Amino acid sequence: MKIAPSILSADFANLQKEVELVEKGGADYIHVDVMDGQFVPNITFGPNIVQALRPITKLPLDVHLMIVDPEKYIPAFAKAGADILTVHVETTPHIHRALQMIKGLGVKVGVVINPGTPVSMIKHVLPMTDQVLVMTVNPGFGGQNFIEEMVEKMAELTELRTKNNWHYLIEVDGGIVPETAKICQKAGADIFVAGSFIYDSKNPVEQIEKLKEALN
Ligand code: DX5
Ligand code: ZN
Repeated sequence: MKIAPSILSADFANLQKEVELVEKGGADYIHVDVMDGQFVPNITFGPNIVQALRPITKLPLDVHLMIVDPEKYIPAFAKAGADILTVHVETTPHIHRALQMIKGLGVKVGVVINPGTPVSMIKHVLPMTDQVLVMTVNPGFGGQNFIEEMVEKMAELTELRTKNNWHYLIEVDGGIVPETAKICQKAGADIFVAGSFIYDSKNPVEQIEKLKEALN
């Protein structure tokens, strides 16, 4: 079980402090939400922020690309120090090529599906995938409610993984709090992204502990 705080809900004026706090508090990844104002109705970070974060933490940088034309920017994010690059299947007609590109750059390969997208859309790229992200909200903003219907997708991915002896980890993102994390874990999820639950609190470390407790 891994906890990935999303810095989308962190204090951007104090990013270093916010990252160091969760690293000391037991986080496993730092989740970086890249939004372009086109694929999703919000704008956040570019490769320069990933580059700035790289030297300040030992944790893997889990970079969630919510951008059109991902192939255009994958090399820049790899160069900036992303450890995992996750691409939305909805953003490219050539998902296999995009994932091959990530692999070729020596970065862990992630693929992600929106709430409206079925698992069958990514079935044929699953063997080359290190991490599959199931969105449990519509991407774009923190603080939204968990969509329970998505749990079925985690169970489907777990079954496919066992049946085919594939190796990917299953990540969930959106509306994750102790209760929803537990539901996802039962369906086979391994990595839990949490933004507002961790950073909207006065004590983010305590929030990480609450998530870990629920998942034990
Ligand atoms: C949403 C992002 C999430 C976001 C989750 O588009 O992908 O990573 O930070 O925020 P919470 O945990 O508040 O739902
Ligand atoms: Zn995300």
